[in-house]
Amino acid sequence: MMEAFLKTGKLGQSSGASAAGSKKTSQSQGGGKRGPAPWVEKYRPRTVEDVAYQDEVVSVLKKSLSGADLPNLLFYGPPGTGKTSTILAAARDLFGDMYRERILELNASDERGISVIRDKVKRFAQLSASGRRPDGRPCPPFKVIILDEADSMTKDAQSALRRTMEKEGRSTKFCLICNYVSRIIEPLTSRCAKFRFKPLANTILQGRLEMIAAKEGIKVSEAGMGALLTTSEGDLRMAITTLQSCARLKSGGDGPEAITETDVSELSGVVSKEWLDRIMSTLQNNSYFDMENLLQEFMCEGYSISQLIHQIHVQVVQDDHLSDGQKSQICEALAVSESRLLDGANEYLQLVDISSTMMSTFAKGA
Ligand SMILES: Nc1ncnc2c1ncn2[C@@H]1O[C@H](COP(=O)(O)OP(=O)(O)OP(=O)(O)O)[C@@H](O)[C@H]1O
Ligand SMILES: [Mg+2]
Repeated sequence: MMEAFLKTGKLGQSSGASAAGSKKTSQSQGGGKRGPAPWVEKYRPRTVEDVAYQDEVVSVLKKSLSGADLPNLLFYGPPGTGKTSTILAAARDLFGDMYRERILELNASDERGISVIRDKVKRFAQLSASGRRPDGRPCPPFKVIILDEADSMTKDAQSALRRTMEKEGRSTKFCLICNYVSRIIEPLTSRCAKFRFKPLANTILQGRLEMIAAKEGIKVSEAGMGALLTTSEGDLRMAITTLQSCARLKSGGDGPEAITETDVSELSGVVSKEWLDRIMSTLQNNSYFDMENLLQEFMCEGYSISQLIHQIHVQVVQDDHLSDGQKSQICEALAVSESRLLDGANEYLQLVDISSTMMSTFAKGA
């Protein structure tokens, strides 16, 4: 039974193992050539030092690495800001080569109902951990259980965790990771040191992207870089993924061709500025006929309507010509439509709905 668990425990870390593998390949390539590894994995921070921008977490973790005790951790914040990378890097720093035996990583793809918490987590928590590595060097006498995407755990499973967390607290540290901290039950949040991961600042994003571009030998025009920063909105994973797609688009020609703004907006799925301006100005005309023609043409472009809603929201909030009353009416319609889309509503009908609300709100005036 125990062996079976240990096996599954190891299987659970296959992502960590492949990350370590990709490190080797990226090193042997000297970073000069485009390898098969996705760049987000290839350029994942290896040590806590490498994690950019999240200074509070990094300094607490560094203290723990230098001997102090590690509290239970709760990392939360938007996607692509370094939560998973930070804890994996910390585990590697703490446990060195042994890190795969000392961590149990469970994420949303694993079954994490109440039975798994009772069996797998509890059993791993009860294993003892010595304060020495096989080579005799000291290492922290605890294990780390990483519950990634904890906001998708059921409430029951979360409650089941409370007792285990308290009882095994000395030999097992927990790290809960989520996007929405409000979905974690209060008794768990109060047992953890909470760390908010902020969307990365543009200067940091630009720094990382430039580093990757230099290592991969690709060129990015200034406007292209600007577009990468605005489309990703602080999500470094998205910025890196878009950069890699653009690089694929440009490869094959002779010599590196610079990535332009158009490449980025084509590949990131963001609605182009021309389309956004066209929609806004047509809606000012207060003609249902014009609106419908335009919307049908827009649908043929294949953009995601949720994306459009997001961009209209940004644009409307910043528009000085609209009164506060108009803005709030439009934003409410946007919010309602977004929620309906999440429930599976028809995209075109929702587009018509928000467009006609906007049209009549514009027509009413301030
Ligand atoms: N603060 C950071 N410093 C350096 N690299 C980062 C940072 N944040 C994100 N990255 C890059 O983005 C990729 C994704 O980061 P990571 O998996 O840690 O995000 P996450 O916060 O766990 O997101 P999600 O909530 O979607 O799971 C990493 O592989 C790394 O390349
Ligand atoms: Mg993650």
